[in-house]
Amino acid sequence: METLNIIPYPNYIKRLGADISSDELNVAGSTITITDEIVNPEGYELIIENGRVQISAGGPAGAFYAKETLKQLAADGDSTLPCVEIRDEPAYPYRGFMLDSVRHMTALDDVKKMIDAAAMLKMNVLHWHLTDDQGWRIEIKSHPELVNKGAYRSGSHFGKIHSEERYGGYYTKHELRDIVDYCAKKHIEVIPEIDMPGHMVAAIAAYPEISCRGEQIAVETRQGIFPDILCAGNDKTFEIIFDVLDEVMAIFPSKYIHIGGDEAPKKRWKECPRCQRLIEDLGLNDEEELQGWFVNRVADFLRANGRQAIAWNESLNSGLLGNDILVQMWMDKKKRSVDFANQGGKIIVSPFYHYYTDYPYAMTPLNKTYKFEPVLKGIKDGCVQNVVGVETPIWTEHVRDFKQMCFMIYPRFAAVAETGWTQEYNKDVGDFNRRMALFVPLLEEIGITPANESAWNPNIFKRLAHTIRFFLGITTKDMIKGYD
Ligand code: ACM
Ligand code: ZN
Repeated sequence: METLNIIPYPNYIKRLGADISSDELNVAGSTITITDEIVNPEGYELIIENGRVQISAGGPAGAFYAKETLKQLAADGDSTLPCVEIRDEPAYPYRGFMLDSVRHMTALDDVKKMIDAAAMLKMNVLHWHLTDDQGWRIEIKSHPELVNKGAYRSGSHFGKIHSEERYGGYYTKHELRDIVDYCAKKHIEVIPEIDMPGHMVAAIAAYPEISCRGEQIAVETRQGIFPDILCAGNDKTFEIIFDVLDEVMAIFPSKYIHIGGDEAPKKRWKECPRCQRLIEDLGLNDEEELQGWFVNRVADFLRANGRQAIAWNESLNSGLLGNDILVQMWMDKKKRSVDFANQGGKIIVSPFYHYYTDYPYAMTPLNKTYKFEPVLKGIKDGCVQNVVGVETPIWTEHVRDFKQMCFMIYPRFAAVAETGWTQEYNKDVGDFNRRMALFVPLLEEIGITPANESAWNPNIFKRLAHTIRFFLGITTKDMIKGYD
């Protein structure tokens, strides 16, 4: 049967008759009803029949998604609508995209375009990476040096690209709240990330006393992983972090706050008398366990304030992580995330090799992204519901402007959106490519120009050549400096 031109593809469609012309539509006779007969608040039923459109939804989000589906049905240029019954709800409750605004900042008007596109695709989370080694991007009034000093770096040395130009800036609370409001209208939750205890060089440059050595360091200009992290054995660290989180929570009403927990080298903790004393006092075995304790302490603080923590999968290395911390799997070679889900923990799936859109199509073709299924190998049948969803990130070391950003993220974001929404048995990679080609003008209408179709799935020769060229362009010794 001919498929409809909708992304993500609905989960149940029944044809009711011949297409009708838009002129025949009885707009006054059309209805939208919220009903508890539809259990999922994101679920909806859309019936186009006898010249009328009837929408029933489990909640406001479901009604919003029904209208998005209707818009796509009406958008294919021939001014007709198919007569159909669509019953639809998402495969996963969490369908996110992540924006790194540290390495390069995206103008807020462009962030809004990304939100518009995500909403069309029924995504419901913007995970906003706002702090890292190369800059602090969120206004914090209680500790003003975080932006006064931490928001600016003296240059940018990312891979083989070098600039000596000062780079920086930050988003004010007012601007951030404006994005939260914008997203709320489109049923997207903004989850901010304050990455800790690693990836904290910008904060340490502002307040050196929160690091193990207490020495003045500069906001990083290089990409990579760096040894100076937050001192776990210093009360001042938690004082500042909790003040920051208080202000973060006042801006972002999200149920979850992301606290990072990735790529934290343990070199400084091994040398630090305060961290070593704490390990002894707490009866911990090593620095990995200290990280587990650190993340749990911050998660406890969030819990006491009615919020829940998300952490990248490295925080599982300790074996101590609280079960109500949502774990984001991105690079988990030892499959700790699978064990965590099998023991009742919840995970978000963001596999580096499939969902990281800062890597070229040569390495991660559209079809590879599309075909990935989030229920990881090893997850037991009874624990499948612990995979709460998917998220696709864009890191911006090598993404300097919005044109390039759009090329990298679209159509791959759409592939992840469809995986998050459409049941595996309704997915079809060939048909997705067909529908995607028709979806491009809708993205262009909101100011997003995706990669051209010839770039989506390069042949094996191009894949090899472009992947090698990309890695030669980005790799430097700095990338792994100090990581152990
Ligand atoms: C990550 O990519 N460091 C989470
Ligand atoms: Zn320390």
